[in-house]
Amino acid sequence: MAADSERNGTFYITTPIYYVNDKPHIGHTYTTSAADALARYHRMRDEDVLFVTGTDEHAQKVVRAASASGMEPKPFADRVMTSYLEAWDRMKISYDRFIRTSEDEHKEVVSHVFARLLESGDIYKDRYEGWYCVPCETYFREEDLLEGRCCPDCSREVERLTEEAYFFRASAYGTAVLRELEANPDRIKPDSRRNEVLSFLRGGLQDTCVSRANQGWGVPVPGDEEHVVYVWFDALINYLTVAGYTVDDEKFARVWPPNVQLMGKDILTRFHGSLWLAMLMALEIELPELLFAHGWWVSDEGDKISKSRGNVIDPWAEAQLLVEESGCTTDVAVDAVRYYMFREVTFGLDGTFSSEGLLSRFNADLANDLGNLLNRTLPLVERFLDGTLEQPGPGAGELQAEVLQAVARAEEGYETLDFRGMLEAVWELLGAANKFVDERAPWDLHKQGKKVELAAVLYDVVDTIRIAALMIAPIMPTVAEEIWRQLGLEEMGVQMSWSDAAVGKTPAGAEVRRGRPIFPRIDLDRVRQRIASKQAETESEKEEKGDEMISFDDFMKVDLRIAKVIDADPVEGADKLLRLIVDCGEEEPRQVVAGLAQEFSPRELIGESVVLVANLEPATIRGVESQGMILAAGDDKPLALIVPDRDVQPGERVR
Ligand code: MSP
Repeated sequence: MAADSERNGTFYITTPIYYVNDKPHIGHTYTTSAADALARYHRMRDEDVLFVTGTDEHAQKVVRAASASGMEPKPFADRVMTSYLEAWDRMKISYDRFIRTSEDEHKEVVSHVFARLLESGDIYKDRYEGWYCVPCETYFREEDLLEGRCCPDCSREVERLTEEAYFFRASAYGTAVLRELEANPDRIKPDSRRNEVLSFLRGGLQDTCVSRANQGWGVPVPGDEEHVVYVWFDALINYLTVAGYTVDDEKFARVWPPNVQLMGKDILTRFHGSLWLAMLMALEIELPELLFAHGWWVSDEGDKISKSRGNVIDPWAEAQLLVEESGCTTDVAVDAVRYYMFREVTFGLDGTFSSEGLLSRFNADLANDLGNLLNRTLPLVERFLDGTLEQPGPGAGELQAEVLQAVARAEEGYETLDFRGMLEAVWELLGAANKFVDERAPWDLHKQGKKVELAAVLYDVVDTIRIAALMIAPIMPTVAEEIWRQLGLEEMGVQMSWSDAAVGKTPAGAEVRRGRPIFPRIDLDRVRQRIASKQAETESEKEEKGDEMISFDDFMKVDLRIAKVIDADPVEGADKLLRLIVDCGEEEPRQVVAGLAQEFSPRELIGESVVLVANLEPATIRGVESQGMILAAGDDKPLALIVPDRDVQPGERVR
C-alpha cells in the first residue's frame, strides 16, 4: 500500500458481503473487525475513508429458506439482515456504508455491467449440458456422482439437462490477470495465498456460467427475463456500486480503486483473485490495490468454524462470558474479544479460538500489563503531583527511543495488516514503561525530595500510556477512550490523532481521574473449578437418571404417533442428519431432523411409515427446526427404524 503522503482521494476498504441467510459468527466478525480497525486507523490519520460491508441476498438458498418460513424472499431478507446490523453495532463496527444487493441502486449497476459485457461479447449465450439434481438445483460433474448417477449431496437420481445460459468469457482474461499479478507482487497478500492464485491462473481460466433460471429472485438478465444474474457475479459488483460506478463519475474517480479488499482465504482463489479481476479487466477498470486473504478460525479438531459444521463461535457470547467472569463492562469485553482475535494469531494464518485463551489473555495482557500500568501510575500522579501533570522539566523523554520504535512498528503493522506485530510492539512498550516505573521508583524520588525528576518520570509514564492508547484505539476503541478519560485528555478536548503518537505531546494541565479498573482480574482457578464441577454434576445426573423407573402415567405423557415420510433431504454440512417432512395426520406436515443419514438414504425413507414422538419440545438442530423425533432401534447408531407391520393411517396413536 502507498504511504498516505502519496495517497489521493478516499481510502476505500471492503469486506465481503455476507450471505443474508447466515447468522453472523466469528468468521464474519473477524473480517469485519479487521476492516474496522483499518478504517479507524486511517481516520486517525485524517484521511477520508470509505469502509463498506453488507449483505449478499440473491442466493437461491434465500428463496428456499424464505419459502420454508412461508415468506417471500424480500421480506425474509429484510428480516434476517437485521442480525448483521445488530451484530455490527454490538461489535462497534464503524462502517460508512452497508450495501444490500437487493437495493435498486445496486441492481441497476449489475444490469448495466451485464449489458455492457453482452454488448462487448464478453458475455454470450450458450447451451449448458450437465448432470442436474433438481432438488439441489445444482449441476455436478460426472466423476462426482454417486453410484447409479445419484446426487453426491442428497443421493437422489440426477438428470441429464440441457439449458440455455449466459457465460462470461473469463478465458480471454486469465493470462492478462496473471501478468498483472506477476508484475505486482503486492497486489495479493499474504504471499502463500498469492502463490495459490498464480498457480490457479496458470492452469487457465474457464468461461463461467453467470446466469441461473429466474425463480423470481435476483437481477434479471437485461433483455431476457427467463434468467437472473448468478449470485457471485452480482455480489462482486457491489464493490463498484458503492464507489459510484456509472452513476457518479466524480465519486468513482475519487474512490476507485479499493485500497484494501479483505476476505477469508476460501473466497480468494476462485472468486476475488480470478473471476473478480477478470471482470474488472473486461470492463477496463483499474484493479484493486490489495486483496488480503486472512486465515480461518478452526476448532480444536482443525475444522473450519462455520454454521454448516455446527461448531460456531459467537463473539458476542464470548464477550458476555468475559463480563460474567471479570465484571468488566460489555464494551470493554467486546474490545477484549477484538484484541484477542488480532493478538492471538498472525493475520493471514489459521488460528484456534478458545474461551480459556481469551480469559487468560484478558488477565495477562490487559489486566496485568496495561491495566496495572494505568492503575499504579494514576495514584502516584494524584499523590505526588496533586493529580495534575506539569510541563516536564529537564530529564523527561527517557522512553523516547522505545516510543519511536513502537510507533514505527505499529505504523508498519497497520500499513501491512500485521495487526499482531502491531500489538506486540505496543505491549513491548508497555513492558518497558512498567520496568521504568520499577527502576525509577517515583516513591523514592518523592522521599528524597527530587521534585523535578519525579515530575519528569511521571510525565514520561503518562505520556507513554497516552501513546499506547492511541496505537490500540483502532482495535480497542472503548478502552482507548476510557484511558483518555482517566488521563484527563477527554476533558481537555484532545482528539485522538495519529500524528500525536510521539513523546511530549501530553498537554500540561491534564488532570488525571482514576476510575474503576478497566480490566478487573479474572480468577482463572475458580473458572476452571466451576467448569470441572459443572461437568461432574452433569455426569452424576446422567448416572442417577439411568436407574430411575418411570410411572405408567409418565409414559402415557409421551405422545407417539404414526407418521408418513413425504420428503427427505440431507441437512447441509451435517453428515449424519436428514431433514424429513412427515404427515402425522395434522393439517400441516411437520419438519423433523433425524440422525439417520448414515444408514438410510433419503430415497429409502420417502413413503415409509415411522413412529414419531409428537409432543417433544421443538428444537433447532444445525439451524433447522425439528418438530418431534423419529424412533429407531440401536444404541449408538440407528440400526433399524421402528415401523408398523401393516398399513396404519398417519396420526394413529402408538401405545
Ligand atoms: N457472500 C459471499 C461473499 C461475496 S463477496 C462479493 C460469502 N459470504 S459468507 O457469508 O459465506 O462469508 C464469508 C466470509 O466469512 C469470508 O470472508 C470467509 O472466509 C469468512 N469466514 C467464514 N468462516 C470463517 C472462519 N471459520 N474463520 C475465518 N473466516 C471465515 O462468501
